[in-house]
Amino acid sequence: MKINDKCWCGSGKLYGDCHFMFDIKLNELKKNGEIIPTHKMIKNEQQIEGIKRACEVNSKVLDKVAENIRVGMSTEEIDKIVYYESIRLGGTPACLGFEGFPKSVCTSVNNVVCHGIPSEKVILKEGDIVNVDCTTIVNGYYGDASRMFEIGNVSPEAHKLVTVTKECLDLAVSKLKPYCHLGDIGYYVSKHAKANGFSVVKELGGHGVGLEMHEDPFVSHIGKLNKGMVLVPGMVFTIEPMINQGEPDVCIDDNDGWTIYTWDDSLSAQWEYTLLMTETGAVILSK
Ligand code: MF3
Ligand code: CO
Ligand code: CO
Repeated sequence: MKINDKCWCGSGKLYGDCHFMFDIKLNELKKNGEIIPTHKMIKNEQQIEGIKRACEVNSKVLDKVAENIRVGMSTEEIDKIVYYESIRLGGTPACLGFEGFPKSVCTSVNNVVCHGIPSEKVILKEGDIVNVDCTTIVNGYYGDASRMFEIGNVSPEAHKLVTVTKECLDLAVSKLKPYCHLGDIGYYVSKHAKANGFSVVKELGGHGVGLEMHEDPFVSHIGKLNKGMVLVPGMVFTIEPMINQGEPDVCIDDNDGWTIYTWDDSLSAQWEYTLLMTETGAVILSK
């Protein structure tokens, strides 16, 4: 690409005035043996504005769930809240119909790791821990976040799992700097989980997000410091650690093809943010 061409990012600006210097920097990193992101992983300003708006709505939908979730509620009711609040705020729930997923949100209770399907038959009871994972589309852009909720009084062990899982995520976020490495995320998440006697799910992870629900790169929650892809300004991705009380192994429900359980039926917790890397640091877009 020449400096007088339109930039590859789709901004409409001349390459020389847009991502030219950025590419020089990335090529330098590549020459030094670093894994650099593809152009597809770099969002332009207009896309970032759209993703920010989707993330705002995404967070508000989760706020609505937080206001209403209570003992005795079915996970189907959570699904209804997510559906109607998403629409009311000008969005659509991305999960609905995604690869055949039948509902608007994932609700994962106790030993369900993720991708739990809301149901009238699943009633939240005192002592449950539940993850509500919501992805929202606004004007074609995606935001993705999940939170844990403690239903009434939960056991000290369950509370610790929920708390430590959030700490894992917040710790990883606090370590993010422009041009740090993807492996840093997994390093800090797993270090903190293991220090507390918990295990990290390997099979599922975070992901690039923004123009689709799941984009590259895969964001593992186990990793090595200073290894893996360089995280550069313009990248939008999630971190969403799934932390188990017992063994890290998981299995999938044969009947519905979606629900992921812990292999040993121990409790599992998850928190998820959508993040944007900028020249000055990582910004949480949705939580
Ligand atoms: N929101 C989930 C994620 O964090 C994905 C939902 S899968 C679906 O990646 F099938 F429910 F859409
Ligand atoms: Co999600
Ligand atoms: Co996600």
